[in-house]
Amino acid sequence: MKRILLIVGGGIAAYKASDLVRLLRKRGHAVRCVLTEAGHHFVTPMTLAALSEDKVYTTLWDLKDEAEMGHIQLSRQADLIVVAPATADLIARMAAGLANDLATTLLLATDKPVLAAPAMNVRMWTHPATQRNVAQLRADGITVMAPDEGPMACGEFGPGRLPEPEAIADAIEQALGEGAAPDMVSGPLVGRHVLVTAGPTHEPIDPVRYIANRSSGRQGFAIAGALAALGARVTLIAGPVTLPTPPGTTRVDVETAREMAAAVDAALPADAAVMVAAVADWRVDAAGLKIKKGMAAPTLNLSENPDILATVAQGARRPALVVGFAAETDHVIEHATAKLARKRADWIVANDVSGDVMGGDSNTVHIVTAHGVESWERLDKTEVARRLAGKIAEALTAR
Ligand code: CTP
Repeated sequence: MKRILLIVGGGIAAYKASDLVRLLRKRGHAVRCVLTEAGHHFVTPMTLAALSEDKVYTTLWDLKDEAEMGHIQLSRQADLIVVAPATADLIARMAAGLANDLATTLLLATDKPVLAAPAMNVRMWTHPATQRNVAQLRADGITVMAPDEGPMACGEFGPGRLPEPEAIADAIEQALGEGAAPDMVSGPLVGRHVLVTAGPTHEPIDPVRYIANRSSGRQGFAIAGALAALGARVTLIAGPVTLPTPPGTTRVDVETAREMAAAVDAALPADAAVMVAAVADWRVDAAGLKIKKGMAAPTLNLSENPDILATVAQGARRPALVVGFAAETDHVIEHATAKLARKRADWIVANDVSGDVMGGDSNTVHIVTAHGVESWERLDKTEVARRLAGKIAEALTAR
């Protein structure tokens, strides 16, 4: 049993918080609710108290509670703090580090992991201010779920809906996995070692400049987390990204393709390798000193980087399952099929990057194998990760 402190913000989706409480209780967790002032307008403390079978906390100025249990204690007695729905306003106050009500005060005072499930109008979600705040929260180590996409209460369509209570409960359990003692790890991948590469690589031009690409690392990090949640021992070899380390994974940070290749080699043997990194195909013959502006523009001499996926797939210590990714803008399946054969991977997850996938929240993928193509609908990157991890578990346990 884990103790979850659920902060219910004020949005139309707050009604789903009752479902979430019920679901978490059903899964055997203790839930204590904090309702913001705005949250009061959408759900009553009585409902949450009845479902959680606990007192509901609403104000910082309840002196009795401050005497009995200060907000510091309240925030630290939990194993995880969950903000659902996390409104644009609550996210902004969290990102700014404000402490002007009970919810934000205990969020600032806590030393426990925090997970936020956003819900707001699509324009509010896509507004640069909200995106900036979400990026700040993620950089601070807070897990911010991607909102669902679909028709909204306000009549508009797009990302901004609160994820379904089931999905939030799954994310909560994944986040709680971190606290579990190693002997308590369970799942179909227990005893298996999986290697995941993620993020871009940076190839230096001189001590201050480099060549990079738009990979955010989010898909690879989500896959590493999803594999760990299924019990795998995961080595996550990450290019330069600022994402928090997914619970239960061992992270090795690298910068260049050659460093990534060396880290992969050092991490073998593995039962499976999932190469999600957007490895730079070329490196620069880097200058030792900063290149100064001169009369003529400098020429960059490029050399090809090692193909890490091909090396692993064709090496002596080849994992039983080798999965590559292919970012394509056109002829997605054809290119991926050719890549499967050329690199000798078992699966290529073909990624249609003609839209805003690089750095975005969702992904349209096709799993290309020797047996055919499986196309998935456009999904949130965490859902792609969950399904792919499940498929990997199935393939490894079938052997
Ligand atoms: N990859 C790798 N090492 C490299 C380049 C790519 O491990 N030096 C892996 C990626 O992690 C990914 C897959 O290979 O899993 C596909 O990479 P991609 O760059 O799309 O393929 P390329 O072989 O470069 O083909 P093209 O540039 O023609 O698309």
